[in-house]
Amino acid sequence: MRKRWLTLCLLLALLGPLAARAELPRVGVGAYSGRDTFITSLVGQIRERGQGRLDLHIVYAQGDQNRQNDQILQMIEDGVDVLMVNPVDRVSAVYLIALARQHDLPLILFNREPLREDLAAYDRAYYVGIDPRRQGELQGELAAAYFRAHPEQDLNGDGIIQYVLLRGEPGHQDAELRSLFSLRAMTAQGLRTQKLAEETAYWEKGLGQERMAMLLNAYGRRVELVIANNDDMALGAIDALKAAGYFAGSQAIPVIGVDATAPALEAIAQGALYGTVQNDAARQAQAVVDLAVLLAADQPVDADSYPFPLNERVVYIPSQAITQDTLP
Ligand code: GAL
Repeated sequence: MRKRWLTLCLLLALLGPLAARAELPRVGVGAYSGRDTFITSLVGQIRERGQGRLDLHIVYAQGDQNRQNDQILQMIEDGVDVLMVNPVDRVSAVYLIALARQHDLPLILFNREPLREDLAAYDRAYYVGIDPRRQGELQGELAAAYFRAHPEQDLNGDGIIQYVLLRGEPGHQDAELRSLFSLRAMTAQGLRTQKLAEETAYWEKGLGQERMAMLLNAYGRRVELVIANNDDMALGAIDALKAAGYFAGSQAIPVIGVDATAPALEAIAQGALYGTVQNDAARQAQAVVDLAVLLAADQPVDADSYPFPLNERVVYIPSQAITQDTLP
């Protein structure tokens, strides 16, 4: 009798964790690419923070919207409880929203912001990201502060800062709005600027390097400032600048990015990257995971249940500027 009882206890102890695991809400996670530094870190944080709370199934779309649509259909067929999607093309999110609605599944979009009217069409669709306007402003404020402290870096002494801009993917809200608001903030801070040229480098370090090398060929020492829509492109630009002899001895040039990725923080510590603006992956991941837990349990999402700023089903996690003086 005692032996049978012990066997039963043993069985329960073994099955317990399995049963608990089976009860976790199933979440299908679709990311636009597995080769993007910031997205890799964001998805890694979602994985970490979802542990023990969500049963996550993560797939990558390799930059192909059709492939992503198929992946989401497959997740629905597999019976997920919640969808989390980082769309390839934010305008195509309208299709994903309609699909989630049709299947009555909660949908959390992240990092690539849908159009507000698309999001408004389904009351179980949410967006988690950052405010790219504020990030652009912080970049512009960093640039203005730099030239206030280093007027000698106006190399030709004309009272105007000649700069080049490296842009992310066309149509991406972060590329468009960071570009616009960084310029507005420089002007608002009293910094006179002239954009010599802009190049699109699709968030990529290799392209950032290539485009910066081209710009240096065309403009050489006329370039006094580099603004990049993200850190990977800024780090690529620094590689090109180093190859052209900058950052050796006293030849510096301010380069400003966004994201605060690990390699960017290292480059700030080394004095190559002047500054960046945080794109807080940890808090964005926490906001996504907490939201999924509530939606899966059909709980209300409001100020009492959810500790993140929520406005018409949009969550913007605040960003901060980082330089050597404020390195975490
Ligand atoms: C931005 C980020 C970029 C890139 C992009 C992908 O928020 O700054 O580095 O990851 O998202 O959508």
